[in-house]
Amino acid sequence: MTVPLSHGLVARRSGPLSGTARVPGDKSVSHRAVMLGGLAIGETVVHGLLEGEDVLATAAAMAALGATVTTPDAPGAPWRICGVGVGGLAEPACVLDLGNSGTSARLLSGLLATAPIFSVLTGDASLTRRPMRRVTEPLSRMGAEFLTRSGDRLPMAIKGAPLPVPIDYVLPVASAQVKSAVLLAGLNTPGETTVIERTPTRDHSERMLRQFGAEIRCEPADDGGEAITIAGHPELAGRTVRVPGDISSAAFPLVAAAIVPGSEVVLQGVGLNPRRTGLIACLEEMGADLTVTPDPGAEDEPVGTLTVRGGPLVGIDVPPERTPSMIDEYPVLMVAAACAAGTTRMAGIGELRVKESDRIATMAAGLAACGVKLEVEPDAMVIHGTGRPPAGGATVATALDHRIAMSFLVLGLVADAPVAVDDAAPIATSFPGFVELMGGLGADLSAPSVPSASAAGPGGAP
Ligand code: S3P
Repeated sequence: MTVPLSHGLVARRSGPLSGTARVPGDKSVSHRAVMLGGLAIGETVVHGLLEGEDVLATAAAMAALGATVTTPDAPGAPWRICGVGVGGLAEPACVLDLGNSGTSARLLSGLLATAPIFSVLTGDASLTRRPMRRVTEPLSRMGAEFLTRSGDRLPMAIKGAPLPVPIDYVLPVASAQVKSAVLLAGLNTPGETTVIERTPTRDHSERMLRQFGAEIRCEPADDGGEAITIAGHPELAGRTVRVPGDISSAAFPLVAAAIVPGSEVVLQGVGLNPRRTGLIACLEEMGADLTVTPDPGAEDEPVGTLTVRGGPLVGIDVPPERTPSMIDEYPVLMVAAACAAGTTRMAGIGELRVKESDRIATMAAGLAACGVKLEVEPDAMVIHGTGRPPAGGATVATALDHRIAMSFLVLGLVADAPVAVDDAAPIATSFPGFVELMGGLGADLSAPSVPSASAAGPGGAP
């Protein structure tokens, strides 16, 4: 089944899902592989790169900055990147358009902040609403100059520091993007740059920087948490990178199989970095029948197989300290919570308000339109599940947010009446082949027969 993604989609109640699948490559690891490959001397060969729009935006930006990026000559073949060397980025001739991709914007800001060149970043209607102060603040301290639109938003002009200075920086928000931006800026900075994080966030940058030859230390910080220190001016050497499947994409078939009775789905080659597995912990606590089998041969990142069977779920309290390990999985966890018996409380999730959409508001509006009882607080959400499928029967506004679109399509597989999303195009940013993969497992997804008349949620029609 091939359904074009340039319009809405409808999900209908489906029979048990079954089969074995592999989700596309991890988005975070893919961005970093392209960036570090673009800085390293020699060839980097990337197997399993996510060919989603977000990563393609990073690849185009690295090419505009002087790296040689060779796209595969056949489906499934690796990407090849020849880098410019640390300190070798060329001034781009054009504005770098990063589409929907916050990771591209934040991490590239780090690279550009300590390159003595001028650049301008922009993006789509979602990305140009997202806050950049979280990166411009530490990167200004390193000597970069930024000019932004009001509210510290893109478009943003960057004048990289001609003489960068190293900093010690305590992260004010638990953000791997901010941590990574400062560490990447530290590459072209003399001396040692240190980032201190009080709550652990995904460590793909630290792992991959080390693999490319950077000198990087992770030590307990004096006042708690971890201090990550990178030594400036390393020689990065091209290498082979194997990108694991994205657990944030696996989350959709995983939750779908957990909530559709009688399902049995096996997801192979999924990245199981321990700082990304919060959703697995939640589903286990909710009573999901879930088995995790690590692959013994995994190298740079832990990888494994997830086997899940459909069955009843119960509501849980999700502790706030779990947030960074499942930051992108809350929308689909909310779908699981809507199908569970009892109340699920998700606290400490204020960061969801500055994702591709305000995910607390967008999910609350869509779930309420589907008949789910819930309460919203500034940085928390409480969902009251009844233990039976929600009513559904709504068209949900996805607000240019891929994970909102996929979450509601999962909900539609169990809801009493079909659930539609007004715009499925953003799914291509992170999960090309979503419709085909889900269809292969037995999900009933199709184009709407008539154009959607109304959409619930911020940005949607009343
Ligand atoms: C990412 C970090 C997270 C996550 C995003 C990818 C990364 O963002 O939501 O999808 O690759 O570093 P924050 O650092 O803003 O939490």
